Amino acid sequence: MSEFQYDLVIIGAGPGGYEAAYEAADYGMKVALVEKDLVGGTCLNRGCVPTKTMMHSSDAYRIATCSEGIGITATGVKADLDRIIDRKEEVSETLRDGILFLLKKKKIDYIQGTAQVTGEHTIAISGNEEVSELTASNIMIATGSEPAVPPIPGIDLPGVLDSTALLELRGEIMKDFVIIGGGVIGIEFATIYSDLGTKVTVVEALDRLLPNMDKELGRSLKMNFKNRGIDVHTNAMVEKIEQRGDRLVCFYKEKDKVQEVEADHILVCTGRRPVTKGIFTTELEEKVLGERGFLKVDDCYRTAFPNIYGIGDVIGGTMLAHTATAEGRDAVAIMNGHEPEINQNVVAGCIYTSPEIASVGLTQDEAKAAGIDVIVKKFPTSANGKTVIEELDRGFIKLVASKEDHTLLGAQLMCGRATDIIGELAVAIANGLTVEEVANTIHPHPTFVEAVCDAARS
Ligand code: FAD
Ligand code: NAI
Repeated sequence: MSEFQYDLVIIGAGPGGYEAAYEAADYGMKVALVEKDLVGGTCLNRGCVPTKTMMHSSDAYRIATCSEGIGITATGVKADLDRIIDRKEEVSETLRDGILFLLKKKKIDYIQGTAQVTGEHTIAISGNEEVSELTASNIMIATGSEPAVPPIPGIDLPGVLDSTALLELRGEIMKDFVIIGGGVIGIEFATIYSDLGTKVTVVEALDRLLPNMDKELGRSLKMNFKNRGIDVHTNAMVEKIEQRGDRLVCFYKEKDKVQEVEADHILVCTGRRPVTKGIFTTELEEKVLGERGFLKVDDCYRTAFPNIYGIGDVIGGTMLAHTATAEGRDAVAIMNGHEPEINQNVVAGCIYTSPEIASVGLTQDEAKAAGIDVIVKKFPTSANGKTVIEELDRGFIKLVASKEDHTLLGAQLMCGRATDIIGELAVAIANGLTVEEVANTIHPHPTFVEAVCDAARS
C-alpha cells in the first residue's frame, strides 16, 4: 500500500482539473479533486458556457427583430435580461450536475475547500470542517486564471465591471456601454449586447481588434462591427474613468488627442492573470513561480518539484478550455509512464461573433517569421450557397500552405460555423495533409464547410 492517501490530488475543478480527474480515475489512480468554489471552474461558471448561453439568447433576439426580409415579421418581441441570466445559470447548473455525477461514478473524492500545497506531498485544506490535510504521491495545480485589473484611475468606480460581474448584471438592458479591450472577451460581449440593442463602443490600445490573431480577421471584424453600429476605436489607450452624474466617462488617447465617451457601464477586459497567490507556502512559492506569476513548468508539465504538475490557464500559453483539458489528460498520461502527446502548435482558437471567427496553425506572418515559404489563398465566402441562404455578413477562408509540398500549415476563417469547421482543418494540419488532399475530399452541399473545399481548390 502507498504511504500516501491519494495517487493524485488535483487543485481546481475547471475543465483542466475535472477532466484530468476522470482520466486519472480511468488509469486506476486514487484521486481527490479540491475546489474552493463551484465545480466547472471559470469555463462553466464565468466563461465559455455562460457567455455562449447569453449569446444564444441575443442571437435569437436579433434574428427575431430583423427577419422581415426572409418573410418573418414578429411583433412584441422583447429581450428580458433577468430571464436571460436565469437561463444562463440553469445551463451552468445542468452541466455542473453532470460533472458531479461523473466524479461520483468514477469514485473520485470531490472535496470542497481551499487548498494550499505545504510540502512536496502535502496539501492543507481550509474552509472544510471534515478535511484539513491530504497527502498525495502526485499533485496537480489547475487553479486557472482571473481578470487582471489594469492601473487605470477610476477603475474601482461603481458601474465599472469585469467579465464576471457583467455576467451577473440584471434588470433593464443597458442603453449604452463602453468596452475597454478589443480582445476575445471584449468582442464577444460587444456582439451579445449590440444584438440586444445596446449602443456599444470598443476602445482598443493596439492597431486592430483581436491583435493576437491574423491581421485580416481583426480588420474585417472592425468593418463588420461598424455595419452593425458598434463604434470601434483602435490605437486608443484608455487613460482614466470618471463619474459624471449617474454616468461614467471613459477618457482615451487616440491620435494624440484625448477623447471621451460616456456610458451607463464600462467593461474592463484587458487580459487575465494566473491564480497562484497562496497556492503554495511562501518557501515553496519562490521555487515554482515564473514570469508574471504564472506557474513554471517543463514540457512534461512538471514544476520544480517533479511530482507537482501544472496545467491549464495557470501555466499560461493559449489559455483556452480545450487546451486546459488536453494538458490535464496529457499530464496524467505522463504520470503513468507515457510521453507527452498533444501538439500545442495545432490548437484551434474560436471566437463567437457573427459570422464566427476561428484560427488554427500558422498565420502568414508567423510562417514568414519562421522562415517558411508559403502560399496563401483567401477565398471569399460570398458565393457559398449556405452563406447566401442565411444572409451572413462578408467572410472568408484563408489557407496557408507550404510552397514546397503544399502541406496545409494554417487556416484563418471568418464565416458561418467557423468554430465547427476549424476542427476539420485542425485534423488536416495535425496529420500533415496537403491542400490537394483536402480539396479532393468530397464535401456535402449545401453547407458552410464546402467552402473549405473551394478554398483548397483555389
Ligand atoms: P479554471 O476554469 O479557471 O478553473 C480553476 C478552478 O480552480 C476554479 O474553479 C477555482 O475556483 C479553483 N481554485 C483556484 N484556487 C483554488 C484553491 N486554492 N483551492 C481550490 N480550488 C481553487 N475558453 C474557450 O476555450 N472557449 C470559450 O468560449 C471561452 N470563453 C471564455 C469567456 C470568458 C468570459 C472567460 C473569462 C474565459 C473564457 N474562456 C474560453 C477561457 C476558459 O474559461 C479558460 O481557459 C478555462 O476555464 C481554463 O481552465 P482551467 O481548468 O485551467 O481553470
Ligand atoms: P485579451 O488579451 O484577448 O485582450 C485584451 C485586450 O485589451 C488587448 O487587445 C489589449 O491590447 C487591450 N488593452 C489592454 N490595456 C488596454 C487599455 N488601457 N486601453 C485599451 N485597450 C487595452 O484578453 P481578454 O479579452 O481579457 O481575454 C482573456 C482570455 O480569455 C483570452 O486570452 C482567452 O484565452 C480567454 N477567452 C477565450 C474566449 C474564446 O475562446 N472564445 C472567449 C473569451 C475569453
